[in-house]
Amino acid sequence: MKTTGQKSSNTVWHHATVTRQRREQKNGHKSVILWFTGLSGAGKSTLAHALEERLHQQNCKTFVLDGDNVRHGLCSDLGFSDDDRQENIRRIGEMAKLFIESGVITLTAFISPFRADRQKVRNLVPEDDFIEIYCKASLEVCEERDVKGLYQRARAGEIKAFTGISSPYEEPDNAELVVNTGGLTLDECVDQVIDFLLQRGDLPKLRGHDRAQKIA
Ligand code: ADX
Repeated sequence: MKTTGQKSSNTVWHHATVTRQRREQKNGHKSVILWFTGLSGAGKSTLAHALEERLHQQNCKTFVLDGDNVRHGLCSDLGFSDDDRQENIRRIGEMAKLFIESGVITLTAFISPFRADRQKVRNLVPEDDFIEIYCKASLEVCEERDVKGLYQRARAGEIKAFTGISSPYEEPDNAELVVNTGGLTLDECVDQVIDFLLQRGDLPKLRGHDRAQKIA
């Protein structure tokens, strides 16, 4: 399914008086998109939710947009053809853009297998606001884990166009961060992302998180 551009004419953008900047000031942190990408089973959702938990405990405003969940609602009309995946990521990109306007740290966990589609989302927002995080786990590791039993079904030919098996995954070549989700523990992965955000100055100094200082 492809959208052919804007069909609604005679619409006028309304500017909010409560701006993103005022929201960020009130929240005490910047709003950014943390765009997790990687194979099914690489640990995108697990990492996004664990990171959200850590940030929430520090009073940050957060929300996770999760592939499997969004496909139950907003994107329930989409399948897994290249075009449908493209439209899926376009919608999530637009939604993530609205979320950062609301001052929220927005974590997205979608395979988002195509470089061009990730680049389009990157282009939707100011340069600093899009942080691509590659959850790196080899196909062997993901298939070995097979948490949802989908790899086995894909190998048996029961699921068509399955990423990594019968549909491509294009590894990021300009990700802001690569996290070895195939090898590190969940806590180590969360620490790595938080250190990165602290170093960028997106977060205030977090209580109980001093690893960034130890590293420096
Ligand atoms: S994306 O390619 O459009 O970014 P998305 O992240 O929304 O995919 O959905 C991926 C999830 O859908 C997987 O984690 C898996 O649970 C499920 N899924 C079902 N069929 C497929 C398929 N053919 N390829 C990949 N994932 C699939």
